[in-house]
Amino acid sequence: FQPKHFERLRVLLTAGPTVEPIDPVRVLSNRSSGKTGYALAQAAWEAGAEVTLVSGPTALPCPYGVTRINVESAQQMHDAVMQNLNGQDIFISVAAVADWRIKNVSPEKIKKDGKTTPNIEFEANPDILANVATQKNAPWCVGFAAETENLSEFAHAKRLRKGIPMLIGNLAQHVMDADHTTVSIFDDRGEHALALNSKQKVAQQLVSEIAQRYQQSRTT
Ligand code: C5P
Repeated sequence: FQPKHFERLRVLLTAGPTVEPIDPVRVLSNRSSGKTGYALAQAAWEAGAEVTLVSGPTALPCPYGVTRINVESAQQMHDAVMQNLNGQDIFISVAAVADWRIKNVSPEKIKKDGKTTPNIEFEANPDILANVATQKNAPWCVGFAAETENLSEFAHAKRLRKGIPMLIGNLAQHVMDADHTTVSIFDDRGEHALALNSKQKVAQQLVSEIAQRYQQSRTT
């Protein structure tokens, strides 16, 4: 039994990696498994929320009760989030969104000629979280930061740069694709570390932490 921290709330999440095409058979992606985002979606539903999960490709089943929208690229994820933003109370941005996409996507499979290597050009993807946070009537936004070093410094700076009230940080090398995770919460009061636990347990704790801060923001 989970406490109904999110009763009568609508929660939108992103999870998983994004996949950026290079040509019709090749892609650029990252090591996100989606486990943390899916665990949070499930915990949010168990806490009473109506949950929409915009997900990049993962091997995970859709959690019971959750509405999943499948996407591949960052641009598709951005568009799906914007189309489903209206009326959401909380946005939790867990996805590992590719920062760049390939500008010169080849319409045909790039052939090797034995002499040259492909000339792949990059362009920036939209920052979904930052765009959501600056919308009129934006939901209460929670971001994630997976860093490989200087977590506290980068996470504090990232929270302020994205203009969001709460950011959850972890060290990428410890958690990507693992079943356990250790995270720290960054907000205007500072940093607060949660103990190492299963992603399910951490997700339940995070729902409670998010709900407390969300309710506080409503009453102040
Ligand atoms: O800027 P950085 O990628 O490190 O920030 C991570 C946070 O921003 C995560 O919450 C991630 O889901 C979100 N993000 C996003 N769109 C991007 C890049 C990151 O929503 N293009």
